[in-house]
Amino acid sequence: MFLRETVRTYRERDPAARSSLEVLLCYPGVHAVMWHRLSHWLWERHFFLLGRFSSHIARWLTGIEIHPAAKLGRRLVIDHGMGVVIGETAEIGDDCYLYHQVTLGVARAMGGKRHPTIGNNVIIGAGAAVLGPITVGDNARVGANAVVLDPVPPDTTVVGIPARPVDRKLASKTPHFDPYGMPCDDSLDPVVRDLEGMRAELTELEARVARLAAAQTQQRQAAAE
Ligand SMILES: CC(C)(COP(=O)(O)OP(=O)(O)OC[C@H]1O[C@@H](n2cnc3c(N)ncnc32)[C@H](O)[C@@H]1OP(=O)(O)O)[C@@H](O)C(=O)NCCC(=O)NCCS
Repeated sequence: MFLRETVRTYRERDPAARSSLEVLLCYPGVHAVMWHRLSHWLWERHFFLLGRFSSHIARWLTGIEIHPAAKLGRRLVIDHGMGVVIGETAEIGDDCYLYHQVTLGVARAMGGKRHPTIGNNVIIGAGAAVLGPITVGDNARVGANAVVLDPVPPDTTVVGIPARPVDRKLASKTPHFDPYGMPCDDSLDPVVRDLEGMRAELTELEARVARLAAAQTQQRQAAAE
């Protein structure tokens, strides 16, 4: 059941996934998460060295490092996967989506809880680092390459180093998933969509005027010679 819902989630969320067999065979995120179940099982039963060794083999095979003590929610997708690091006291809710080179790590040396807690339905962009025992709220999005050091409220997008919220507040509990964290359909406010369209047209017109002006200058120079 766990495997079936994981494969189904990849198919629903990754536009590149063409069949369940492809997801099963070619998605390191699936292998890493399945393997983590074994490592976590061993860890929970105090087979610490075996748990670490098992997760080390998974890292070797997938490029994804998940500490066996980390707690992962259901339907987690780790897309591409290479370079992902999920630390010992990290917790991830349900329906989260992580891209490659995401780090859920430590901000500064300390004992106890030192890795982040990620809510449900959170998207973390490629190369982002979420550091320290902070909470990332439900439905939040972390931009590619952001470094997050402060708690992120639910339904918020943060970008940059250090990560700061962008103005736009997300519609709460987005009913569907946006690949790459980018709304690419009707979920955008229609007024914003119209303005975006007008901005694109204006940019194109400016470019055309610039090209015409350059051509006119060339003609004048040629006529003068
Ligand atoms: C953060 C993200 C989800 C925002 O998407 P969005 O809501 O459509 O936001 P916008 O594109 O309208 O950008 C809002 C502002 O944040 C800036 N911004 C967006 N992403 C950023 C990023 N990763 N780092 C820094 N600034 C970023 C934009 O330039 C814009 O700034 P402005 O208001 O000054 O013009 C998206 O940009 C992102 O990083 N997604 C992850 C994609 C990814 O990891 N892909 C890997 C695929 S293999």
